[in-house]
Amino acid sequence: MNDAPIGVFDSGVGGIGTLKSCLDLLDGESFVYLADRSGLPYGTKRGEEIEKRVDECVRALLSEGVKAIVVACNTATNVGIAALREKYNMPFVGVEPAVKPAALECKRGNVLVLLTPATAAQAKFLSLLERFDNGRIIVAPQSGLAERIETHIDDIDVIRCEVYDILRRYRDVEGVVLGCTHYVFLKDIICDFYGGRIKIYDGNDGVAKRLKAVLEQNDMLAGAGKHFIKFKVI
Ligand code: DGL
Repeated sequence: MNDAPIGVFDSGVGGIGTLKSCLDLLDGESFVYLADRSGLPYGTKRGEEIEKRVDECVRALLSEGVKAIVVACNTATNVGIAALREKYNMPFVGVEPAVKPAALECKRGNVLVLLTPATAAQAKFLSLLERFDNGRIIVAPQSGLAERIETHIDDIDVIRCEVYDILRRYRDVEGVVLGCTHYVFLKDIICDFYGGRIKIYDGNDGVAKRLKAVLEQNDMLAGAGKHFIKFKVI
């Protein structure tokens, strides 16, 4: 048993959806959510810069006494989670574009993968793509979209037309993979654009399940006492 909180971080609000999935599944756990707003955007930075930011986030969370860390960012996971696992002796759970379920479930049509340029360029993502590529996967990196979401998170409808402009290039799709945690906030807008006829995939529930399994394996689940959620912005 371990009552220490779990750290969750992203470059901003993106990981809040991941945090919600974790809270839904692990409601007896405490969480510290760190939004690295001064590091935003990760998705257009070089690998070394992202690794540096990610390491700063981990150190900030370690100072909060966390027992495990959720890297609630596809970009940070693809670029930096291997180095984190090597450097720090604690469990890390990451998030990856949900290409696998989308490729397996979308039997006829195209699968549109929206993600950041940095994730799209990573060997980890490319090998995921290679494993599940059925010739119907469209990889569509987006520069600047995460920042637009971050800026308008209180009234996301403001960017509806911009999102429609992106999607107009990809009318013929059966599924959309939200390969950046920020894009999860666009779910309703994307659904509206396609008239509700498509499936939308994100990795958040998968992360929560993996986190639960990792805590169980390491005998790290919290006891029945009080729990809390703390938010930090750097
Ligand atoms: N939310 C992050 C992700 O899942 C990236 C956003 C950014 O570019 O900072 O990739």
